[in-house]
Order: sequence, then structure tokens, then C-alpha cells
Amino acid sequence: MKNIDSYTHLRGESVYLDDIPVWNGTLYAAVFDSPIAHGVIRSLDFRAAAAAPDVYRIITAADIPGDNQIGGIVPDEELLASTHVHFCGMPIALVIARSDEAARAALKKIIVEFDPLPVITDPREAKEKNELIIPPRTFQLGDTAKAWSQCVHIFEGRADTNGQEHLYIETQGAYAVPQEHGTIRIYSSTQGPTAVQRTAARVLGIPMNKIEVDTTRLGGGFGGKEDQATTWGVLCALACALTQKPVKYSLHRMEDMRMTGKRHPYSADYKIGLSSEGKILAYEATFYQNAGAAADLSPAVMERTLFHCTNAYFIPNVKATAYSCRTHLPPNTAFRGFGGPQGMFVIEAAIAKAATAIGIPAWQLQQKNLLETGDEFPYGQKAESEASACWEAAEKAFAIKQTAEDIKVFNASNAFTKKGMAVMPICFGISFTKTLMNQARSLVHVYTDGSIGISTGAVEMGQGVNTKMLQVAATVFSVDASRIRVNSTNTYRIANTSPTAASAAADLNGKATEIACHAILHRLKQVAASHFSVTPELIEIKNETVYANGVATEWDWNKLAGMAYIQRVSLSEHAHYTPPGIHYDATVEKGHPFAYHVYGTAIITTTVDCIRGTYTFDSVKVVHDFGTSMNTLIDTGQCEGGIVQGIGWMTMEEIVYDSNGKLRSNALSTYKVPDIYSAPGEIIIEPLKTDKDNLAIFRSKAVGEPPLMYGIAAYFALRNAILAFHPGADIPYDAPMTPEKVLMSLYSTK
Ligand code: MTE
Ligand code: HPA
Ligand code: MOS
Repeated sequence: MKNIDSYTHLRGESVYLDDIPVWNGTLYAAVFDSPIAHGVIRSLDFRAAAAAPDVYRIITAADIPGDNQIGGIVPDEELLASTHVHFCGMPIALVIARSDEAARAALKKIIVEFDPLPVITDPREAKEKNELIIPPRTFQLGDTAKAWSQCVHIFEGRADTNGQEHLYIETQGAYAVPQEHGTIRIYSSTQGPTAVQRTAARVLGIPMNKIEVDTTRLGGGFGGKEDQATTWGVLCALACALTQKPVKYSLHRMEDMRMTGKRHPYSADYKIGLSSEGKILAYEATFYQNAGAAADLSPAVMERTLFHCTNAYFIPNVKATAYSCRTHLPPNTAFRGFGGPQGMFVIEAAIAKAATAIGIPAWQLQQKNLLETGDEFPYGQKAESEASACWEAAEKAFAIKQTAEDIKVFNASNAFTKKGMAVMPICFGISFTKTLMNQARSLVHVYTDGSIGISTGAVEMGQGVNTKMLQVAATVFSVDASRIRVNSTNTYRIANTSPTAASAAADLNGKATEIACHAILHRLKQVAASHFSVTPELIEIKNETVYANGVATEWDWNKLAGMAYIQRVSLSEHAHYTPPGIHYDATVEKGHPFAYHVYGTAIITTTVDCIRGTYTFDSVKVVHDFGTSMNTLIDTGQCEGGIVQGIGWMTMEEIVYDSNGKLRSNALSTYKVPDIYSAPGEIIIEPLKTDKDNLAIFRSKAVGEPPLMYGIAAYFALRNAILAFHPGADIPYDAPMTPEKVLMSLYSTK
């Protein structure tokens, strides 16, 4: 089945925040944000701005009726700076004007004076100064201290990954509209409608039931709107409450890039020990996460780094410690993979370093250490592993060994063009790492004409979750897809939602929808059973026809719905789902946090122009563990998109802050994302064939985030190509591997 939005997307008819018709009298907001990264606000002069044409009002921290606080996990982030600023781009004031242009023009007339304070941008420096968001955490398995003596090879090193700009096509924004009795409706481009609702209620000092948040779809979120859509939703609600007028704010691209956080950059130290046969016996890692100026989601992201620090490998002795370091950058936030990719890069760097030193290809070490079923993760859960199955299927389909041989032959006969290959196995845990967040609800209505409406807590952001919700109802009821409408995500219909995140939206909301549909179906069958004088178990609905005792009756789906209504049987259901069996005890860092894991193996090959340092990716070949995909078009699309986004992170997207904490890569002229010209020559995705049971919706495993991590192979493929040109090259493990870095490495001396 095609994504149900594909037709309206193609015609430009799909509705995003900026397509919502505005009410008469709508006012427009614009944020005045800090030009410096750290300091005390000495004075603010709004006189000229307030007198500028069409300016309606200027709002500051002093106008906030409730709490000036938007921190979700740790209450450490003001909505509007009161006395101090902590990052360039921190909102200080909100200008409200009669037009978008007038609001932005007035910003330029605001005069502010600061007493600057020292700026930290490096997480290691923050750690030295004890600037930590939360206390460090350590995951441990076995005993690394004892294990080193058994290791024949021991290597140590450092590995760094940079941040990543989300670059959702639709920038952040919101539109708040006053309703009766002091309530406010917020249209928000958010992955977390409840987060916007909860925070708006807190800032306004009113109960949550007076805030309605409505989200039709996002033009992409990628994690950037899990927590950080809240700021704009709440600012609009605040302005709406203070003016009693509708207030809209849709950020310009440069405002968005400057004021919002990104993927967390990490710096890490590692130590890896191997036996003479190449078995990894011990691994230690210390992660320094660049959290930015406030916690945001950093504690949860840090946790997932630890969960995924051994990727798809079994290592009997592990000790991994992570520090969430407070710097003066915009608070960094969720980004597809949520800290997992940063953890995986470090173990891959450690393996690559060991392989280079021992003089064997990294893939031999990778393959030798893959997780097997029953192996224990450092956090205590036992693997049900498809790691070897994916690897073997990839070897069979794509001939890893032969590819390596072919590349050797190519490189031997080409002096200034070199190829490189790398393999990336992945293992990604599915569930919010915070156990309580794994819950969802769905509201299903069957109308008397047989049409069906579904509301869930899931937010459509291009990943196709609405299509999957529709498929669930169509399958359970056995009706045509055209009967079903998936409604906007709305906090009046579905309450207390977890954000659409952790790749878990389809599972959690899909299972809730499945339960709701089954409950309605059960009642419908009773209606038919009493009419046809059989027991309900003998009633079946197939392709909209009602069968009794295996025989088609004259009732169709419409008739059934109508009859249920006449007999006063409820045609609606609100259902709740939470996955069974998950738990986690953070005091001992052990438990069973994930409903299941997703596995896969990717092979990426690259060709490097060794005179220019430029490169292309020839191919990405993947065996991916979809479980049993319920929508191969959507799931393949998620793989392709994730892979290209991962390659972008690893090779070309370079976020640059200067030492004053100012974003230098603040526009698309200075921040390069993959385009069609830099996309791999081919991407082949083969499903791993398994028929095992799992906790996924219709056994169709979560697919949103895991494929991004295949992109890590792009970094190591480039590294191998450089080493083919210059075996003694000095290549720090420092992503992204931009063309500049490739060129420097090609001609580096140790
Ligand atoms: N795909 C598209 N097209 N746009 C997005 O914003 N977000 C990703 C992924 N795929 C995203 C996407 C992220 S970060 C997550 S967590 C999942 O989708 C969320 O959706 P799911 O839980 O329904 O998989
Ligand atoms: N993944 C993604 N988003 C989240 C998580 C998680 O584990 N926890 C809280 N938000
Ligand atoms: Mo995705 S980073 O969990 O929104």
C-alpha cells in the first residue's frame, strides 16, 4: 500500500502548519534572541522597537503568569531569559506585531547590554570544570580490570563525532488561537503534542485541560521536534493568553538553525582488548556528551549511548561511563538514533584501530564478535540475535569477501583513484529507554454509514505512521482502506501521549488501535450472531461481507454497522496499550529495557579521487531485519532515507561553532546536506527472512531510526580508501570525514 499522503504531497495539497488558514486579527510573533553565548543581561531597551510600525506588544520573562520553565527532564531552562543568557540564540523577548515582517523589523530596534561571562564549547573542558547536567552513569558487565591480562592485543584511542542539523523541510512553528472560557488551541508542528500542552499549562499557570494541541502532520521532525517544538508552541500560547488574539510564529530557516539544538556532538576515549583469535575480551569507553546549555533530552540520549556502546557485538567484559557536559551551545536534543549512533561509532573506531594494527580487515573482527542469541548486553538483557543471520545473508547476497578482493585488484591497478569498503552491522533496541513512556492510546469510531475514524497519539512526520494505523484497522475489520480516515493528533481526543519517537510510534499506537478495533469487532460479531442465530465465534467479516458459519450472508459491513447502532451497541472504543515484559532498574543499570532489537548488515563502497579528496559512494547494500514488514514501500523508504541521512552525518554535514559559541554554519550555503548528486549510486535493501514472533505491530519491526546507523560504514569505507592510497596516513577518528579532511589525510604524515 502506498503512503496515504503521497497523492496530496505530490500535488502540494497536504496541510502543514503554514497552510492553516489564519483567523482575522491574527498577530505574528518573532523572537529576540541572545547574540552572545553567556552573560548577564545588564539592560534591555525596547522603546524604539515598541514604537515601530504595527508592533502590538513586546513580551518578556516578567510577563509570564506561571513558571518561566520549559525543562522536560531537568527544570533548568527558562522560556525567556530573565537575568542570564546561556547560549547564542536563547530567546530573551517576543515581539508581537500585526505582520510577520513588522515583527522581524522591530527585532532590529531592540538594544541590549550584557556583562559577558566565560564561554565553554568543549565537553571535555565542561567535565573538567564539573559542569555536568546529571551525575555520570556507568554500565558494566564482567570485569574489565581482570580481563586486560588475558588480552593479547590492547589498543586505546579517542573518537569524536560532530552534531547534525535536523533540517526538517518544515521549520519549527506554532499557531495559538484563543477559545472560550480561557482555553487555548495550539496548532503545533511537534512530535510531542502532550509536551507542548503540559509546558504551556505550566508557563501560563492553568490546568492542562484548558490547552488543546492539534497536529495534522510535520514536514519532518527527525527528533528535532520531540522536545524543541515546545518553545514555539508555548511562546505562541503565552502571547495568545496575554493578547487574547490568535498568534502565529513560523521560524525562518536561519532563525531555526541558530536557535535550536542539534544532534549531540560526542568525544570519547576507548580501550579495547582482544585474544589472539580476534575475540574482543574487554572494552572500556568514556563518553563526553556535549549537552549544550540545558538538559533538554540529554540525560535520555546519554543513556541510549550506553545502551548501544557495544553495537551488535558480544563483549564479555565492558565498562562504559558517560558524562553529560554542560556547555554554552543551544541545548542539543533528540536526533534519529538518539545517542545510539554516537555510541556505535566509538566501538567501530576501536575495532578499526585494532584491525589496522593487527593487519587484517575490520570486517573479519566484526564478524567474529557478532552477538548470538542468549548473549548478555551490558545492561543485562539477553539477545535474541539476528546479527549473524543478517551478516550471513549479506555475504550470500552481496559477497562481502569477494567485494574486498575486487577492491584490492582495483586499487592495485589505479594510482590516483582508490576504492574502500566497510561493513556495518547494527543492533538497535526498540522501546523508550524510560520504561513508563512506553504506552499509547487509540480512539476508533465506526460511523453509521460504515466509515471509520481513527485518532491516536502518533504524529505523522513523513515516516508513514498514519498509513500503518489505517492498515491496522483495515486488516482487523477486513474493510477497504478507502473507508478509513486517520485524524489529526489532538490532545482532546488522545491524552497523555508520549512523543512520536524512539521508532516506537507504529508499534505502540498500532497495538492500541488493534485492541480498539478488536473490541468493536467483538461487539459487531455479537450483533450478527444474534441475528443469524449462531455463536459469535462463527461470525466472520471478510472483505466487507459478513459470514455466518462459513457462509456469506446478505449483510455487508454497512448493514452491520447500521444494525449495531439500531440495537444501541457502541461503535466506538478507546484502547490503551503498553508492551509487556519491559523493566529497568537504573540503580544497578540492569534490566530488560527493550521490547526487541532490530538487526542488519550494510556494506558501503566508495571511490575516492586521491588528487582532489572528493568521493562518491558507489553502493550501499543491506540485509535488514524488518521482522515481517507490513508495508514494504514505506519501510524501504525509511531505510533509504535513514541511510542517506547517516551518510550525511558521517561525511559532509559539518556544524561549526566558533570559540564564542556562535554558529558559523548557520545557513544552507555553509551547511551541506546530501542531495541527489551525493546520494549513493545504488541502495539495495534485502529483507532478512524470518517468521519469528516479536512484540512489533503485525510482527513488522520498528524501522524509523535503525537504518541511519548503516551510514557509519561510509566513514570507515572512506578511511579504508585513504589507507589504500597512503598506508601510513594519519587519520584521526573524527567524523564527519569531509572532502577537506579526506584530502588532508591522503597527504598526511605521522
Ligand atoms: N521519516 C521521515 N520521513 N521524517 C521524519 O521526521 N523521523 C525519524 C523516523 N523517520 C522521521 C522519519 C525518527 S527520529 C523517528 S524516532 C521515527 O521516524 C518516528 O516514527 P515511528 O516511531 O513511527 O517510526
Ligand atoms: N528514544 C527516543 N526518544 C526518547 C527516548 C528514547 O529512548 N526517551 C525519551 N525520548
Ligand atoms: Mo526520534 S530521535 O526518537 O524522534
